[in-house]
Amino acid sequence: MKLKNLAKTLRFGVGPLGREREKAAKRKRREAKFRDDGIWLHEGDIVQRKYASYQAYVEHQASKLDGIRSRLDDTIEEDYQDFVRRFRDCAVLNEAANVLCLGARLGTEVRALHALGVFSVGIDLNPGSDNRHVLPGDFHAVAFPDRSVHAIYTNAMDHVFTIEQFMGEVRRLLVPGGHFVVDMVDGYAEGFTPGDFEATAWRDKTVLLERIAACGGLTEVEVRDLGLLRNERWMQAVFQLPLDDSGSASREVASAARPNA
Ligand SMILES: C[S@@+](CC[C@H](N)C(=O)[O-])C[C@H]1O[C@@H](n2cnc3c(N)ncnc32)[C@H](O)[C@@H]1O
Repeated sequence: MKLKNLAKTLRFGVGPLGREREKAAKRKRREAKFRDDGIWLHEGDIVQRKYASYQAYVEHQASKLDGIRSRLDDTIEEDYQDFVRRFRDCAVLNEAANVLCLGARLGTEVRALHALGVFSVGIDLNPGSDNRHVLPGDFHAVAFPDRSVHAIYTNAMDHVFTIEQFMGEVRRLLVPGGHFVVDMVDGYAEGFTPGDFEATAWRDKTVLLERIAACGGLTEVEVRDLGLLRNERWMQAVFQLPLDDSGSASREVASAARPNA
């Protein structure tokens, strides 16, 4: 037995009871970190992780993949099947001429969209090496032109630096009448506690939905319960950009706010 595992066994005991004790201790540590004003800026209903600079945010987010690579190998098939299930019933994704996935990591969601016959590509700060489905890039400053994307999907709202910058890009990229589909976990007042890599957290889902609509100039079309994935409850919200969105104001805001502009 590895030394780390031996220490855990001595501390929490063996069997299901030991595992429950270990989980409870982990949960407590996570909650304490989230309450820590040194780590999180608790102002308003949307709270932010404190970063020394934008570069520090980028480096922190990009470092996540290496630490979870071995865990991902165990869960990737389950994740893929779950994406297929989530997307199969989402008409706007199935009907879109193209779908851009923001924060797509290894491209599991992109592969699921391909399986449903949808043209899709992802971007991520760290897509790993030799990734055929995901381009390296920052979702606060996407390389694609204005009004070039028919639908945008993300499950990474909790990793954005600011919702305003992120949604400015969504609005800039979408064609008029285009859709934004977001899968989200509960808010911190609803039972979800952010971990070591979340950069943004919301009090509850209503707060997030309102902020997305306001910052993106979008109309909420539908919200549905996706059920549980590894003990977390997920919801899916669909938004639409109005057909008459001039977009000019948002494009100016988005490019002024672009961290790398
Ligand atoms: C919770 S993971 C989700 C990954 C993927 N969507 C999935 O479910 O397999 C969040 C992802 O967002 C990426 N990310 C964080 N900040 C980003 C940024 N500014 N631009 C692009 N990707 C970012 C991280 O690298 C990470 O892969």
